[in-house]
Amino acid sequence: MTLPNGLTPETARATAARAYELDRRHVFHSWSAQANLDPMTITAAQGCYVWDGEGSRLLDFSSQMVNTNIGHQHPKVVAAIQEQAAKLCTIGPPHVNDVRSEAARLIAERTPGELNKIFFTNGGAEAVEHAVRMARLHTGRYKVLARYRSYHGGTDTAVNLTGDPRRWANDHGNSGVVHFFGPFLYRTQFHSADEAEETERALAHLEQTIAFEGPDTIAAIVLESIPGTAGIMIPPPGYLAGVRELCDRHGIVFIADEVMSGFGRTGKWFAIEHFEGVVPDLLTFAKGVNSGYVPLGGVAISPAIAATFDDRPYPGGLTYSGHPLATAAAVATINAMADERIIDNAAEIGARVLGPGLRELAEHHPCIGEVRGTGVFWALELVRDRATREPIAPYGGTSPAMTEVVAACRAAGLLMFVNFNRLHVVPPCLVTEAEAKEGLAILDQTLSVADRHTV
Ligand SMILES: Cc1ncc(COP(=O)(O)O)c(C=O)c1O
Repeated sequence: MTLPNGLTPETARATAARAYELDRRHVFHSWSAQANLDPMTITAAQGCYVWDGEGSRLLDFSSQMVNTNIGHQHPKVVAAIQEQAAKLCTIGPPHVNDVRSEAARLIAERTPGELNKIFFTNGGAEAVEHAVRMARLHTGRYKVLARYRSYHGGTDTAVNLTGDPRRWANDHGNSGVVHFFGPFLYRTQFHSADEAEETERALAHLEQTIAFEGPDTIAAIVLESIPGTAGIMIPPPGYLAGVRELCDRHGIVFIADEVMSGFGRTGKWFAIEHFEGVVPDLLTFAKGVNSGYVPLGGVAISPAIAATFDDRPYPGGLTYSGHPLATAAAVATINAMADERIIDNAAEIGARVLGPGLRELAEHHPCIGEVRGTGVFWALELVRDRATREPIAPYGGTSPAMTEVVAACRAAGLLMFVNFNRLHVVPPCLVTEAEAKEGLAILDQTLSVADRHTV
């Protein structure tokens, strides 16, 4: 059978073999020791599916790096990129360009509050870098607070903000970042019995951190509205409102990182909308803004921070800020998401299929310690022992059990997003009920592999 991109299985296999050979010879991969890597080859993708180098079809429950919110090869987005390429491939950021202007309008219309100015970057880490730079210049302060169990990107400031082991080798103690614990009831740092207690105690801890660091030294608090890679921990009611209040009280800029949680992932345009009335001063986005069809990210800016740079130049920029191919893809993505009610679909599939389906799996798979999430943004916390909550792989590492379960998923035709002891169920926002159920059925089989490693 021909692949969706027109390749015959034979051509696809030959292309894949050559690509793999060249990859291993010449491509230097992210976050990895290079020598023993065995990366998967992908020859085609369509909607919620990808095809590997052998021509096998896999259901993409990872959305790659949790970015293909609109699925693979959405025809309207592909057409917009093709049309823009024919019209105008590139133009520098000092000039006005129609798709850049329109993308900024569409994004500003959807961001909460009055975040009406958009600074475009090439991706999420750069968005975070620039948000922090803006906050530092706006406040005249340097220090930035970020939570443990977070990911903010691979560039210097962004990786130093990050609360996971990827920071360690890049952290020389001079980044001006101070980490604190956020709320996470399942593994509470605060010995809380319920969400209300977790909110109260996590906020008291943050308040103390601010007091002991010196409120007048702190430029910003950076938080993922719902932490993604670190485990999809939905903040309990009142927590983000409390962070907003602490920021207001001390003149600290609140930066909401929506790189992973934005543009439909949680069943709303932005995850922060789940927390009524909470509006950040800066909001970073990337990934879902155009599903990564062309690299794009950015910062949505409050009027007060934008005004800081009314008469004073902003000391930052990028050759490709607001690149026409990327912003044309964003315009088409946002319009298609609205016209095709793709975000409503994410909310509905989460509430009606994925949430109940994953909770049902937890009823008969002892390896599932907790199911958390909303929309198409779910985590399964896998444990060796439900009573002690001992993870099936250690923090920062993996284990034979995790490796086996991920391999079993792949062999059964399911591509998962994996972090330490967690499987993340993060399909595209347009996943259908049938596709979601197909993935749940495969998980039902493959989680038995992890069950065998429980006590
Ligand atoms: C919350 C968050 N912020 C920032 C980033 C970095 O984005 P990028 O990889 O586009 O630089 C990521 C990437 O996963 C992310 O999840």
